[in-house]
Amino acid sequence: MYKIAAIGGDGIGPEIVAEGKKVLEAAGERFNFAIDWTDFDIGADRYLATKELLTENDLAELKKFKVIYFGAIGDPRIQPGILEKGILLALRFAFDEYVNLRPIKLLEGVETPLANKTPKDIDFVVVRENTEDFYVGIGSRFRKHQKTELKVVRDLYNVKFGLDVESDAEELAYQIGVVTREGARRVQTYAFDLAEKRRKKLTSVDKANVLSDVYGLWRDVFTETAKKYPDVAIEFNFVDAVTMWFVKNPEWFDVVVTPNMFGDIITDLGAMIQGGLGLAPGGNINPKGTSMFEPIHGSAPKYKGMDVANPIATIWAGSLLLDHLGEHKAAAAVVTAIERSIKDGVVTRDLGGTAGTSKAGSYIAECVKKGK
Ligand code: IPM
Ligand code: MG
Repeated sequence: MYKIAAIGGDGIGPEIVAEGKKVLEAAGERFNFAIDWTDFDIGADRYLATKELLTENDLAELKKFKVIYFGAIGDPRIQPGILEKGILLALRFAFDEYVNLRPIKLLEGVETPLANKTPKDIDFVVVRENTEDFYVGIGSRFRKHQKTELKVVRDLYNVKFGLDVESDAEELAYQIGVVTREGARRVQTYAFDLAEKRRKKLTSVDKANVLSDVYGLWRDVFTETAKKYPDVAIEFNFVDAVTMWFVKNPEWFDVVVTPNMFGDIITDLGAMIQGGLGLAPGGNINPKGTSMFEPIHGSAPKYKGMDVANPIATIWAGSLLLDHLGEHKAAAAVVTAIERSIKDGVVTRDLGGTAGTSKAGSYIAECVKKGK
């Protein structure tokens, strides 16, 4: 019996999580485990009603679970950033989910926009650092002539621009990216361990040629960590270059490890080469704590309640969740069933089919039960 927390969230979130639950239940039937779900009403509706984003009580309750199944958040009634930062990022940080695991894999039967590439060419994993970098939320905006004692702002004005912050200042904003030795080490170690289980190649993606303090430290730690893994071939790519190689030579990649913001950007590119956002899952992992599995797409509010959203990314995230629980056979069976549904054409309209969200999800659940 597994206890799993579920947060449907906003927009299409609740619909796609409902499909994911169907499939995980089906996997339980076939592989002999049961799931006890606990639903949380965290999201836009509750926020509008109570002004609560994520409460102490939510965190205390969620902490009791090893895994959370997460749909999506984001709502047009609320200014962008509030829910994203107040709920999704807050959860990742609160549970110190320092690994954001994003497989980029072209499934059988899915069309990629890349010419002449097949499933054997597009099969890698991005390990995105998930708690540091420009996501730490340290920054500020300064109005003209605003008085400040903040050294960083005085330095920016005086040292960099030769201006006096209180007299001839223009409006200025800054945001700080943070990399710590331990933060880099732990996520890179996860990536090396993963590479050892795969094709033994690890690419570090950074921008150490320009942002040489933060990503210089990232690189130093990477070079040191690599010494413990002599059988893993390593490579450094700058983030701008890697966007070219993902498109031109995706077959070069096995495991990619990267700081938070670059990971955010390159995994949307990755989602496209694996067939679209409707097919891209992610896991926010704390190997010793509470982890959270979600599609990487958002809440698509305009499709809410229309039974058109593709549930595959969420169902695949469910497979990552099962893997995390140690149910490796069940996890693999879910991916096989997703592939079956694609080959059989029982897919939503983004993949050229006519099935609704619910029909597509039920079909995958049936395939899992039958071992198809
Ligand atoms: C993602 C999303 C989030 C991120 C947003 C919604 C805060 O883009 O999961 O990739 O930037 O991490
Ligand atoms: Mg993103």
